[in-house]
Amino acid sequence: MAPAIKPTIFIGRDAAEAVSTAADLWAEAAREAVRERGLFRTVLSGGKTPKALYFLLAAERYQTLPWQATHVFWGDERYIPHEHTESSFRMARDILLSRVPVRPEHVHAIPTESRDPVKDAALYEARLRAHFAQSGAERPVFDLVLLGMGADGHTASLFPESEAARESGKWVAAARADAGVRDRITLTAHVINRSRHALFLVTGEDKAEAVKELLEGEGKAEKTPAKLIRPEEGRLTYLLDAPAASRLRARG
Ligand code: 6PG
Repeated sequence: MAPAIKPTIFIGRDAAEAVSTAADLWAEAAREAVRERGLFRTVLSGGKTPKALYFLLAAERYQTLPWQATHVFWGDERYIPHEHTESSFRMARDILLSRVPVRPEHVHAIPTESRDPVKDAALYEARLRAHFAQSGAERPVFDLVLLGMGADGHTASLFPESEAARESGKWVAAARADAGVRDRITLTAHVINRSRHALFLVTGEDKAEAVKELLEGEGKAEKTPAKLIRPEEGRLTYLLDAPAASRLRARG
């Protein structure tokens, strides 16, 4: 499905410039959401790339953001205890959430305690449905969804040719990674595609081939699940640094 709004591609000189742009877009989305709806619903991603963004958002210059009205969700999680060093929840809590005045009851971590990813995926979906139902919203519309991309073209925990990437009914699904922490829980593409703004932050030479396929390749979306992210009505932004964009055709 073609996106309603033409994607924006920003290529920073380096990762720092891409991260700084991401922080500015976060601030813009947060202020607009609270102004218009009284709260800001943002979805965090895991991995290494967003760490610099979370550090920046915890800095003095972003303390004036509407943190008290911010609700934090996760786009995916590794199926390990939240205190595990590889937990996406722990990474965001230690770098950002412990340093800004987000209310504890507004931090919506993906549960990983029941020893059954399918069960906890269903539990997270139920919590999302209840959260959105409180504001009379039948459909989950996040204001901002932060996304990374792996060198294999996965995003969140939607891996190539996987059941989770093909899921079209559930909001949240269990998934299997090929490496690292294998069991995952992930938002599905069609929930992400209901967001007001899907924001990819992808940096580093190791992502250049995947970025070329994502933006210029003809391959099937199920082989490059980042291609599945095409917001129906919202914005789609790709924030890249020059190394990650180095295989793209020269841009006029
Ligand atoms: C995760 C992420 C995943 C990540 C990509 C890129 O938990 O790992 O949600 O989708 O965004 O794997 O990871 P890096 O930023 O570490 O390259």
